[in-house]
Amino acid sequence: MSRVFVARAIAGNALQRLTAAGHEVEVWPGNLPPHPIELRDAVADADGLLSMLTERLDAALLDAAPQLKVIANYAVGFDNVDLAATAARGIAVGVTPDVLTDATADLTFALLLAAARRLPEAQQAVIQGRWRTFEPRGWLGASVHGASIAIVGARGRIGGAVARRARGFDMEVIPVNRGDDLHAALARADFVSLHTPLTPRTRHLIDDDALAATKPGAILVNTGRGGLVDQDALARALREGRLRAAALDVTDPEPLPPDDPLLAAPNLIVLPHIGSATHQAREAMAEMAVDNLLAGLADEPLPYPAPQR
Ligand code: DGY
Repeated sequence: MSRVFVARAIAGNALQRLTAAGHEVEVWPGNLPPHPIELRDAVADADGLLSMLTERLDAALLDAAPQLKVIANYAVGFDNVDLAATAARGIAVGVTPDVLTDATADLTFALLLAAARRLPEAQQAVIQGRWRTFEPRGWLGASVHGASIAIVGARGRIGGAVARRARGFDMEVIPVNRGDDLHAALARADFVSLHTPLTPRTRHLIDDDALAATKPGAILVNTGRGGLVDQDALARALREGRLRAAALDVTDPEPLPPDDPLLAAPNLIVLPHIGSATHQAREAMAEMAVDNLLAGLADEPLPYPAPQR
């Protein structure tokens, strides 16, 4: 029998397969992640760990988990895991690709449309009783159909799914992949959508220089990772009106403190990292995470391993 620590309750019943296989499962109670010290204590005698992107799994944490054989990260991203440190300790790392691709691409489009057509402002006007009559000049927004969209990380699964949706809206897709000229693409695009993984190379990819190169009045959408954007630079670009709007499902940190200057910037939509938050996607992610755990605990190759970069 092995011991598995699960860093938060997850959707669906997949964890029952672990207990049915004879493993002991401890689920961290409550909606907040364990504090790093609590996590360190919890993994001290764990053979398997089901982690979220909120758990920083670095060398120090892994040193506190001498029995750990397998980490099943409940995400397709794995920037929270130090893969060099897990490899050095022979710990297998799994992720949950594919099943959240369409959910995340759908949310990307929801954000894009909401920002372009100013849905949050328009809804507030109705709710607050400020809408009096049909307004011929009210809440004018940006056209989505026929506009151009730079998809940063277009070769990835989610980037590709966003490109398919964009083509359905008759948009011109400008793919941006590693090695392409990002600034040239930004200069042409009415919308910019970020789907590249967060690595040391891509941290603050969208910085002051990138925003200066961006077409005036463009809309930025980020459903990837908050760290892709220099948020101080973004707040400046919004305040100065160089960007028409930004719509973010991810920030750095998450959540932003209520007094973070970005939250006071105009024309900003921020969501609480819900890209994969459909019943179907989150339950499928749970099944994949459990598949990874069962394989790792049995010393078998993981069905959904984290890709090596
Ligand atoms: C991921 O999978 O990386 C998302 O950000 C959370 O579902």
